[in-house]
Amino acid sequence: MKNFLFPATILTIFSLLMLFAFSCTQQNENKTMTKDELVAKGKYLVNAGGCNDCHSPKVYTDMGPVPDSTRLLSGYPQGETLPEFDPKMVQPGKWVMCEGNFAGWVGPWGISYAANLTPDNATGIGTLSEEMFVKTLREGKWMGVGRPLLPPMPWQGIGQMTDQDLKAIYAYLMSLPPIQNEVPQPVPPNKVGDMTMMK
Ligand code: HEC
Repeated sequence: MKNFLFPATILTIFSLLMLFAFSCTQQNENKTMTKDELVAKGKYLVNAGGCNDCHSPKVYTDMGPVPDSTRLLSGYPQGETLPEFDPKMVQPGKWVMCEGNFAGWVGPWGISYAANLTPDNATGIGTLSEEMFVKTLREGKWMGVGRPLLPPMPWQGIGQMTDQDLKAIYAYLMSLPPIQNEVPQPVPPNKVGDMTMMK
């Protein structure tokens, strides 16, 4: 009997400890984050998730393009014109091209420009609620309710993040300094030729 009881007690204690450890992690994951924790998590997700690759204008260094830290996530720079290109090169099955900021893209869908994700009311997402931000990325619609989002915005993958992750991204974006930068409207495929000098 003694021989049996000893391992059984150890096993019970071990199981209880495991249960306790598990419930602690569960609690940790479900606990509501403070504003600062949410912003920090959002910053981590935005940096690791590559949002700057398209949404931030670039400065060129010897090692190539890096996000311009003075206007992070402010989108395709207002007033810049796309470099000259041959519209025949971007027909279906040919090239997809982007300009030097990786923010203006030309492809079979026409021309798309990475949006201003800073909280500027007029030109960014300042007036977008948290709920509509989540909807934008879940459903791939402009401002949550508008036209379908164009390539290469990878909303199909980003939209699969958890509610908490998307809310964290929103909290971080809303904590950025608002930058006034009016990104141009997208151009439909039949108008792409009008946008370049080479026709
Ligand atoms: C490969 C380039 C690319 C990457 C990477 C990218 N985006 Fe975008 N994003 C775009 C483009 C281009 C648009 C504009 C699409 C359009 O006009 O339909 C856009 C649009 C958006 C919009 C819609 C804005 C609005 O006002 O409705 C949101 C929100 C957004 N992106 C968030 C993100 C976040 C968050 C990340 C990173 C997790 C990210 N994007 C990564 C290219 C990109």
